[in-house]
Amino acid sequence: MSGSHATVTDRLLVGVSGSIAILNLPTYLVALQATFAKEVRVIMTVGAAQLLSPSTVALLCDEVLLDEKPTAQKKPGHVELANWADVFLVLPASANILGQVANGLAQNLLTTTIMASPKPVIFCPNLNRTMWSKKAVQRNLRTLAEDGHLVVEPEQAPAYEVGTGGVADTLVLPEPAVLIRHLENLLQQIGEDSVAAEK
Ligand SMILES: Cc1cc2nc3c(=O)[nH]c(=O)nc-3n(C[C@H](O)[C@H](O)[C@H](O)COP(=O)(O)O)c2cc1C
Repeated sequence: MSGSHATVTDRLLVGVSGSIAILNLPTYLVALQATFAKEVRVIMTVGAAQLLSPSTVALLCDEVLLDEKPTAQKKPGHVELANWADVFLVLPASANILGQVANGLAQNLLTTTIMASPKPVIFCPNLNRTMWSKKAVQRNLRTLAEDGHLVVEPEQAPAYEVGTGGVADTLVLPEPAVLIRHLENLLQQIGEDSVAAEK
């Protein structure tokens, strides 16, 4: 899907987990390809693939990778994917993914690729307010930051809640344009930190 427009990064890897915010993933993928990344590969967890069809996601990016048994057809594995990415984003990040990574677990393609990533991973969590306020979740977020990862905090806005089946003020991913601004700031921060570390 490589375009000729100016972008921030060449190769973006997006890990997608099983959060309701996946319903907006197509909008984010279009926005990311319009202004942020030339090539986009997506890893979907089993939970994500149950909420949004991987064949729909495949229409909107360069490649979709799923948890699959080894087959005769060669597919890029976790190490190749991790090394390929200039920027590695988890969007949306479920409570489960935050917990798995904070505890050093790597039981599927997404968490294994995060484990193999030579660069910090940027998590964009989407949890309801009660989940977000849990001590375990906040502890996991602190651990991720201590381990060098980055988190784009959710924002308060009205949105559909699966639990109640209604629209309520809740925590959501920042709008695509706002999220991309956050990403640009974080990448600048990572760049400045790595320059400082080399000195
Ligand atoms: C319809 C639906 C919506 C969900 N939304 C969320 C959510 O917004 N955030 C979250 O952390 N978990 C959510 N879950 C729960 C996760 O899908 C579940 O914890 C799953 O194990 C996550 O797996 P994964 O992290 O491997 O994708 C939702 C589940 C369903 C069925």
